[in-house]
Amino acid sequence: MSAAAGSPGKCEISLTVNGEPRTVRAYPMERLLDVLRDHLRLTGAKEGCGEGECGSCSVLMNGALVNSCLIPVLQAKEADIVTIEGVAAGSQLHVLQLAFLECGGAQCGICTPGMILAASHLLRKKPAPTMEDIREGLSGNLCRCTGYIQIFEAVAEAARRRATT
Ligand code: FES
Ligand code: FES
Repeated sequence: MSAAAGSPGKCEISLTVNGEPRTVRAYPMERLLDVLRDHLRLTGAKEGCGEGECGSCSVLMNGALVNSCLIPVLQAKEADIVTIEGVAAGSQLHVLQLAFLECGGAQCGICTPGMILAASHLLRKKPAPTMEDIREGLSGNLCRCTGYIQIFEAVAEAARRRATT
């Protein structure tokens, strides 16, 4: 981190986002969510509550699932961040994205990026999750549209597909 010339109080902060090294000029206490959306134009992470309650801003930071609305960007210095924009492999959707589409797990889409990152985090820890594991793994992510069942089914379907490919 170094002071950014011409912007008193701002610092240059380097981090890796979706595999690419990035440097931003930001106030140290700016929220990671705002840095991703406003500085880096990665608008997949959404602001719902802004208080760490809904999970719509979820990203992976050094492999951990975090609410980016609660992370000062200084805390993300030198961190490895994955957002929903980094989940697909080019034009090839991730198995979770396909399963959400096919199972009706995405409706308005506000919760979807966070849900998929939470599900990806879960499947990395538990490749063959039970429905209880899925409920628990997604318990920090709220959805106002689906009633959750389609989301849980999408995650189970993605796990099944991964097991057979
Ligand atoms: S916007 Fe971050 S948890 Fe709701
Ligand atoms: S799909 Fe609308 S909040 Fe989940």
